[in-house]
Amino acid sequence: MSAIYENTTISIELADRLRAMPKIELHVHLEGATDAATVWELAQRNKVTPPVARLEEWQAMYAFRDFNHFLDVYGFAMQCMQTADDFTFMVERFLAEQARQNVRYCEVFLSASFMLDNFPQDEVIAVLTEGIKHGKEKYDIELRFIPDIGRQVPETRHKVLDFVLKGFEKGIFIGLGLGGMEVGFPPKLFTDVYDEARRQGLHLLAHAGETVGPESVWGAINDLKVERIGHGVRSAEDPKLLEYLAETQTPLEVCPHSNYRLGVTPLDEPHQMRALVDAGVFCTVNSDDPPMFSTDLTSEYLLFAKQGFSWDELWQLNLNAIKASFLTDEEKEAYRAEWKEFYAKVDK
Ligand code: HPA
Ligand code: ZN
Repeated sequence: MSAIYENTTISIELADRLRAMPKIELHVHLEGATDAATVWELAQRNKVTPPVARLEEWQAMYAFRDFNHFLDVYGFAMQCMQTADDFTFMVERFLAEQARQNVRYCEVFLSASFMLDNFPQDEVIAVLTEGIKHGKEKYDIELRFIPDIGRQVPETRHKVLDFVLKGFEKGIFIGLGLGGMEVGFPPKLFTDVYDEARRQGLHLLAHAGETVGPESVWGAINDLKVERIGHGVRSAEDPKLLEYLAETQTPLEVCPHSNYRLGVTPLDEPHQMRALVDAGVFCTVNSDDPPMFSTDLTSEYLLFAKQGFSWDELWQLNLNAIKASFLTDEEKEAYRAEWKEFYAKVDK
């Protein structure tokens, strides 16, 4: 059965605009932005034994059966990323890909709970600092990183917070995130480190409302007091939550291909984005783990266009990313000016 979201066609003009427009991405994981062939290359280089014998079989594993299968593949990919050189290489590939799509600024998650056993922290911070500099010089792209705690390993939370604070002092980390297995690991397990992170001035985020329903989003709001929600699409199941999100204009980082590929949104249904936007919820468009879900940021906008979102609505979602970012007001104004210039050129 073909998916409903692939059934409609859109004008070439709209597709071209979505490709060309300057963009901001607020929800993308560095490890998950590394494609299967690169992970394979890293496995050989670092002498990690893959779970299968050939690259083609490894690539075939990216057809995820469910969220847990995805986490297994993601977990193996992370084991292959072991040296500073690996991260330099991954950041360079990431930047080249974002530049190709006219992405101008990104807030990038790092799966810190798993990385910290492989690496001296200062070395990671040095490599990422260099990556930010390189992004600016070679691609004119700004990057900031947000290390996250893996929910399934709550015992790593203090170590991750220490790491985040180190990079925060140096201006390369801007916040604390929470990812991984939502089922069985509710937000309240992490209240202590979120309280401390807030005291220290970090921005606070969490994945929620992806594989668990509205109660997980309520938990992220009430127990962790997050500023943005990763995914949050299952908020559409709770009218009171929709009302709350619309009233507070709490941003959601929506990643539609990820939702379809992991079964969060049924393939034969339109994405929850329509219900969220129509309820007045403040949404942004993001790609999550792009090569793992055969997508990129442009394709996420194209998906919504194919589901009937107009140019004006898509442009508004693109503007929303500036507002929901953790940039300073002055930096946001500079991006707004750039967006305005593009809009004036195409929307005559
Ligand atoms: N959800 C939770 N954890 C993750 C994801 C996701 O979509 N991507 C990478 N880590
Ligand atoms: Zn994510």
